[in-house]
Parts: sequence; structure tokens; C-alpha cells
Amino acid sequence: MSPTEIRPQQQRENPEPVEAPNPIPWFVIVLTLGLLVFGSVYIVRSHIAMAPDMGDDRTAAELRGQPAPAAGAVLDGAALYAAHCAACHQATGQGLPGVFPPLAASEWVLGKERTLAAIVLHGISGAFTVDGKAYSGAMPAFGAQLKDAEIAAIVSHERSSWGNAASAVTEASVAEVRKSTASRGAPFKGDSELRVANPVPGP
Ligand code: HEC
Repeated sequence: MSPTEIRPQQQRENPEPVEAPNPIPWFVIVLTLGLLVFGSVYIVRSHIAMAPDMGDDRTAAELRGQPAPAAGAVLDGAALYAAHCAACHQATGQGLPGVFPPLAASEWVLGKERTLAAIVLHGISGAFTVDGKAYSGAMPAFGAQLKDAEIAAIVSHERSSWGNAASAVTEASVAEVRKSTASRGAPFKGDSELRVANPVPGP
């Protein structure tokens, strides 16, 4: 067979395909330019102190942290309650049925102020009745993380909110309870200990 001979198989073959020039569609160019312009204008016009109507609602001042309250300033019981207690007892003071007891109209909140302070200082674990309903969760102790004045502000807030109307609790009163119960290393064991044994003498 001579080298120039073309075989039938070769005759049937198509030429190699070639890619024709394919311009970028005009709308993709327009869209890209538009987004670039929008992005640049947006970045230039926004600044850190702008109103937080986009994002997570925190202002620049809040991100910097609030200034510490001056010594002797009146503590905000409502704010302290929101920070430390509302997660369980709810902002409404109604608690969650069957899980967290209500503070509104609770005989413990309206009753003896020293027992109330002691509950916040040392916590409770075990079966516990509020307004005739039984709970068996665990109330954490706050004695280590809250100062007497803060506890006084919180319980005073509780005794005067959500329809409650009992007298305010003073820092000195909380301090006395802290002293007289200082030897406690564990939470109160529910009703049985708090109601029956009356471990916190005084009003
Ligand atoms: C982790 C959830 C939780 C947090 C936070 C919490 N509590 Fe409680 N609290 C409970 C539970 C649960 C009980 C009921 C105890 C039980 O079932 O043994 C309770 C009971 C009480 C009671 C007695 C019962 C009543 O309803 O009157 C008072 C008063 C109280 N808590 C006050 C506070 C205060 C004040 C704070 C904030 C400093 C606070 N609690 C934070 C879960 C919590």
C-alpha cells in the first residue's frame, strides 16, 4: 500500500471542530458593572456609627461596652433581673409551667424577705411547691457572683413587679443572711428544708 492511499475509514472522518469566538453577553457585562458600582457606593456611604437598621441591632456604643456604674449609684433591679433570672423565670415573672416556678404572686417572693434572699444566695434543689404546684428543678446559687446590693436590687424588683406589692429588701438585710448562712455549702433541699426546718431566722 502506497503512503498516499486514502482509506475509506479516513474519508468518512469529519474535520476537527473549531470553537468560534464567543463574546460575553452584554447583560452579563452590564450586571457586573452595576454590582461593582453598587458595592463601591455602599462601602463608601456606610460607616461604623451609622444607625444599626441592618445587622444585629447593636450600636457602636454598645459594642464598646457600657461604662461601669459609679460607686454608690442606684442599681437597676430590672436590668439585673433580665440578665440573671429572666432566662428561667421569664421577663413576665410567670416562669414556665411545670419547669420554672412563677415569681409573680409567689408566696416565697412576697413572704419572708430573708428566706427569699437565702434562696437567691444558695439556690434550691429538689421538690419544691409554689402556689400549690410542684416543681423539681434546680435553682442555681447566685451568692458567689452577685453582691449583696445586687441581690437586694433584684429581689426588691421582684417584690414590686408583675402585680407584686411587698416592701423593698435592703443590702444590709441580704448581708445579714449571707453571714448567718455562710457555713452552707449546698443549695436548700426543696420545701422540706425551707418550709419545715426554717434555716433562715428573722423577718
Ligand atoms: C437556671 C434556671 C434559673 C435561673 C437562672 C434562676 N432560677 Fe430561680 N428557680 C429556678 C427553679 C427550677 C426553681 C424551683 C426550684 C426547684 O424546683 O427545686 C426556682 C425557684 C426560685 C424561687 C422560689 C420559688 C418562687 O417561684 O418564688 C425564687 C424566689 C427564685 N427562684 C428567684 C430567682 C432569682 C432572683 C433569680 C436571678 C438572680 C433566679 N431565680 C434565677 C430556676 C432558675
